[in-house]
Amino acid sequence: KRIVVLISGNGSNLQAIITACQQGKTGGKVVAVISNKASAYGLQRAHEAGIPTLTLPPATFADRQAYDQHLMAEIDRFQPDLVVLAGFMRILSDAFVQHYSGRMLNVHPSLLPKYPGLDTHRRAIENGETEHGTSVHFVTQELDGGPVILQARVPIFADDSIEDVQARVQHQEHNIYPLSIAWFCTGRLQMHEGAAWLDGKPL
Ligand code: GRF
Repeated sequence: KRIVVLISGNGSNLQAIITACQQGKTGGKVVAVISNKASAYGLQRAHEAGIPTLTLPPATFADRQAYDQHLMAEIDRFQPDLVVLAGFMRILSDAFVQHYSGRMLNVHPSLLPKYPGLDTHRRAIENGETEHGTSVHFVTQELDGGPVILQARVPIFADDSIEDVQARVQHQEHNIYPLSIAWFCTGRLQMHEGAAWLDGKPL
């Protein structure tokens, strides 16, 4: 299966996905990496893996609608079976989400439905949580609200910094994201009636 990955930054999840694909663990291949930021380190990771990249800075577009239309056209040139958001820090228009309905995944650094939105690690620490984690989900119109596919839990210890928690969470993302992608690429995972289904059963 053909995978297009969208990034905005470091791309550690992108790297985990590229590596898993290279090792034949997913049944998929990353055919393009697209960033909204020219400075995203993930672009370099893609170059090193010989994957075509594209940078699309929002500044040159009139509004979100115009940007998303253009982004869609660029993505579709690569004829993806799956679109993977890996630290892509933009709100997506309804038209964009609709266009990739059932074939777009995101990873969000919290145990959804807890802590949608930004700054999840800080908020979890401030609320005195002893447990936190990350979720892979299908993308729907509701921000960080699509059906959850796979979650990983991590502990929060009393003296943890935000960076400690983030590192623990990201380590888990690098396992659960490639695994979810493998489920999708091997035909085991679908979005159906607003739920995520694995092996013909709702999760
Ligand atoms: C990840 O922690 C992910 O949960 C969030 O953004 C971060 C991206 O990190 N959506 P990276 O660019 O994959 O290293």
